[in-house]
Amino acid sequence: MRRPLVAGNWKMNKTAAQAVALVNELMPGLKGISDVERVVCPPFTSLPSVHDLLKNTEIGLGAQNMHFKASGAYTGEVSPEMVKEFCQYVILGHSERRQYFAETDATVNEKVKAALAMGLTPIVCVGETEKEYDAGETKAVVTRQILAGFAGIAAADAEKIVVAYEPIWAIGTGKAATAEGANAVLKDSIRPAMSQLWGEAAAQSIRILYGGSVSAANAAEYFKQPDIDGALVGGASLKPADFVTIVTAAKK
Ligand code: PGA
Repeated sequence: MRRPLVAGNWKMNKTAAQAVALVNELMPGLKGISDVERVVCPPFTSLPSVHDLLKNTEIGLGAQNMHFKASGAYTGEVSPEMVKEFCQYVILGHSERRQYFAETDATVNEKVKAALAMGLTPIVCVGETEKEYDAGETKAVVTRQILAGFAGIAAADAEKIVVAYEPIWAIGTGKAATAEGANAVLKDSIRPAMSQLWGEAAAQSIRILYGGSVSAANAAEYFKQPDIDGALVGGASLKPADFVTIVTAAKK
């Protein structure tokens, strides 16, 4: 049984003071929910204060990125150990990182290895552009992202990975993928690529989330699908009532 997981990707939103206010609003609703792993991923500057707030709760904390090197002359970067000081999770390879900050499958691979070595749960994003979708290249793209992004990772470690399928054309657009369409990509492309790397049992045990315009109104449709194990939520994770509704809907 794969435990459902819903993570809120706040992106570049909220000051530290605003983050504390938002988590205070979220906490009563999120505390009561059992059987769903729920995670908030605020910007780096809010991690210490949100970490203090979430102490002794079952709400997890994640970063939105990290560097793969342990330390050194990498101005502006944050190391795995620095993330681990506050977080249990880290989002890696988000399409916005790939698009605006030149991340590649190779750097994602380095980051996934560094996260696993540090005992962090990586939430690794894959997904095709609208052009690739229109050209029927979704399977080829996500297969390449999985095979290259996870190259050299042992099956025993793989089970700690979480994958988020986020078609780029669905992110922040309100143009969400259909639940059936998203499930088909997970079932026919992503799990088979993972099976190629680690075997069928591992591929079946790894959690895969859907992301891209998930809302309080459409979340339940995704969670009904057999291969979708939760969601990576952007815009709606900034609205406390909506995020609580989404997390609640993920309960099996
Ligand atoms: P969205 O973002 O829910 O605002 O579409 C999802 C994401 O980018 O993780």
